[in-house]
Amino acid sequence: MIELPGSRTVTLRAMRPSDASGLRDLFASMGEDDLVRRFFSGRPPPDQFVERMARVADRGGIGLVAVLDGPGVDGTVVAEAACELLPDGNGELGITVSPQLRGWLGPFILDALVSAAARQGIPAVEADVLMANRPMLALLRRRGLAGMAHSERPATVRVVISTGGRVPPWPWGRRAGRRRLLVEHPAAEWHADDAARAAGYDVLVCPGPGGRWSGCPALRGEPCPLVAGADVVVDALPGRTGEIVLDAHHRLQPTVPVCVELPVGTEPGQPGTTALPRGKGDVAVVGVVQRVAHGGTGEGAADR
Ligand SMILES: CC(C)(COP(=O)(O)OP(=O)(O)OC[C@H]1O[C@@H](n2cnc3c(N)ncnc32)[C@H](O)[C@@H]1OP(=O)(O)O)[C@@H](O)C(=O)NCCC(=O)NCCS
Repeated sequence: MIELPGSRTVTLRAMRPSDASGLRDLFASMGEDDLVRRFFSGRPPPDQFVERMARVADRGGIGLVAVLDGPGVDGTVVAEAACELLPDGNGELGITVSPQLRGWLGPFILDALVSAAARQGIPAVEADVLMANRPMLALLRRRGLAGMAHSERPATVRVVISTGGRVPPWPWGRRAGRRRLLVEHPAAEWHADDAARAAGYDVLVCPGPGGRWSGCPALRGEPCPLVAGADVVVDALPGRTGEIVLDAHHRLQPTVPVCVELPVGTEPGQPGTTALPRGKGDVAVVGVVQRVAHGGTGEGAADR
């Protein structure tokens, strides 16, 4: 329980089936933009959806609500965070905070949910986030997100965060016939990731250090579990950060092949590292990645 000015308190507790009406009121109080961000629709969700949500614990998932009490506001649900169990063993995250209590309650309830998930043995939580939802992306970025996939119309990215470590585990087990490509790129998506998927790669995009996230293992001199689980890495982090991370990979995990994608106008810096071609199509770029993954240097592939 947190005390607020004006003799009010916010209590965080497990979601109960009887919270359905409080959740309905919370969603009914939200503006269209927030509804779209939360539910990908400008209308509050149907009653049946909310009632099912309030029973998330019956399905092995986790639900939390924050309840505001005080003069004139007894028992108002002001935030919710829920995590449905997914077939891959991870959780699927959804979260809402009433506009009056934003600025602190989002990180607070998210951390509580993540801790509860870890206690329940859920290794990571995933979420579909609109690319325009900067607060949600910032919230997850601070907790070491990696991008799993993206789609257009609406422009969304599927992201994953760990519940127990600094970086998430690879969200997919080793899948027959597929290799793993880790891309280090400031956004949670990469221009050639669809081409790489089409070429038989599971692609995870790590935005690297920054955005007030300081958990990057490479910068701490520790091997990165994402690199360890990859067949090939593309370092597309610009500037000094990219150089430092690249250097760390060479020192700490030298057996994992790495390509670099340098910004236009930058000269290849590190000898022995394959630079991806610039100004070529995504298929050509992925062709070089494939050659490097198979032990080649990638040289020449750019021109084919
Ligand atoms: C997403 C949400 C839960 C975040 O809760 P919150 O209490 O607002 O969280 P914060 O105020 O701490 O903001 C989170 C981060 O976004 C940043 N942020 C806030 N507004 C921002 C903006 N307009 N642009 C960029 N970043 C912004 C904050 O600085 C903070 O980053 P930091 O931790 O690095 O400082 C809340 O905004 C919400 O309920 N939104 C509507 C529903 C929704 O989008 N749900 C997520 C669906 S996946």
